[in-house]
Amino acid sequence: MVKYNQKCGVYSTSDVEERHITSQSLNNTSVNLKKTNFQVFEEIEYETGLDLNNIETPILDALENYSNNPSIPLHIPGHARGEGVFPKFRDIIGSKIINIDTTDEFDNLGTLHPATGPIKKSQELTAQAFGAKNSFFLINGSSVGNLALALTVTKENQKIIVARNCHRSVISGLTMTGAIPIWVTPEWKDEWEIWGTINPAEIEHLLNENPDATTVWITNPTYEGIVSNIKKIAAICKKRNITLLVDEAHGCLWNFHEKLPQPALNCGADAVVHSIHKTGGSFSQSSVLHIGKESKICEEELEANLKILQSTSPSYLLLASLDSARAYLSSEYGLKKVDAAVENAILLRKWLNSLPRVECLEPEGQNIAVDHTKIFLKIDGLSGKRLESILEIEYHIEVEAAADNGILVLVNIGNTKSELEYFWECMHSIVSSNYSDISYLNKTKYMPYYVPEMVYSPRKAFMSAKEKISTEDSIGRISAEVIAECPPGIPILMPGEKITEEHLPYIRRLKTINVIK
Ligand SMILES: Cc1ncc(COP(=O)(O)O)c(C=O)c1O
Repeated sequence: MVKYNQKCGVYSTSDVEERHITSQSLNNTSVNLKKTNFQVFEEIEYETGLDLNNIETPILDALENYSNNPSIPLHIPGHARGEGVFPKFRDIIGSKIINIDTTDEFDNLGTLHPATGPIKKSQELTAQAFGAKNSFFLINGSSVGNLALALTVTKENQKIIVARNCHRSVISGLTMTGAIPIWVTPEWKDEWEIWGTINPAEIEHLLNENPDATTVWITNPTYEGIVSNIKKIAAICKKRNITLLVDEAHGCLWNFHEKLPQPALNCGADAVVHSIHKTGGSFSQSSVLHIGKESKICEEELEANLKILQSTSPSYLLLASLDSARAYLSSEYGLKKVDAAVENAILLRKWLNSLPRVECLEPEGQNIAVDHTKIFLKIDGLSGKRLESILEIEYHIEVEAAADNGILVLVNIGNTKSELEYFWECMHSIVSSNYSDISYLNKTKYMPYYVPEMVYSPRKAFMSAKEKISTEDSIGRISAEVIAECPPGIPILMPGEKITEEHLPYIRRLKTINVIK
């Protein structure tokens, strides 16, 4: 019998019975699973009567109308409601979805740039739901939001304070404008071998040293879910009239649950990007850029920059999925789903921590908070990569990412109770088995922990004459490209940085690298 002591948070096994996994994918696993005798993960069933039908969905309604009232499509997209697609493609993705694959502008669907009709209305509802002054839909992920922000708030040779664990799109933005990054390095959590929080005092110190800096750009949370004190950082910025940008790509659920961290929009950030597609339930590539209620950012300029960067044929499916995700998250039913994800994640953490050799990254002290739904965990004696491959090959589980020391597991609004039970049982099975580690792994997931020498600005390096050389010969040369392993997409090297001996383990597998001639 498997027993869970709710009070102590301890899980113990003695007598277990066979478990039948119902879904096809889980049936394919090679493991012989055991059944637990308790069912404590929450599963939210949809009850009629919940407010899903009363919530406004302007884009979705326009799409429904388009689908129900077909006109003769003598316009793009040329597959004309599916007649012109490769049949195998249609068979795989379904004719319904091809039938509604369209772009803005036609059939009263509104336009994205400038926002008009249902798209404008949906952006307004999004701003309301997230607590923003205004929100802009992005169809190339938060990446394009970061590019647009860089174009809007930075100019050539202008100093900007940037967290060194930023996503590569932030660097691409600075490369476009020629701004000079002044790095703020987050704390390194040695025992976990990942980046931790940004110290607000460090921001203050850098602003004192660089009185000509105009903007601070922070990534929050980190990929592994560690949360910095944005309220404090915002207060420091406000006092000096500094613009604060927060890349909250991984934190779009925060406004929808009190046990999740404070969203940056509530802390006084000037602009925030959210990859709604990552955890908010929209389609891949769809994100939102929000402007804070008291933002200093010139929205007209921002809109003009988005217009430069975004496609002139935005996928209406992506826009409809953003409309739907916002409606869902702000509905009674959606809020229950978020609640289930948070509570299930808290419970899963408890169970995992009760297993021998397993430890989850948990909040500790006042300066660190963790998003419960992102579980970074390690098993003593197994590297992150090894654990990831055991879960994948033996148990048919794909985790979000593996770092040097542990794995990152997301408990999402879409995960079912049986998936979480299954994962827990697999972890139980792994710690009870004798898996050994593999020694080829050298710790190369994140950049070396020191601030590299920046010889040229990212733009100057990127625009210089380049040559491709063997990575073995690159020590002492200046990188002309971003080197970043994805995920998490944090640069190991930026254009303009000097390559040193410490970089070699990280770049060796690339064989060649672009350097300045
Ligand atoms: C912190 C951070 N910012 C921005 C991005 C880019 O987001 P998107 O994939 O939506 O373009 C990522 C992607 O992983 C990210 O981790």
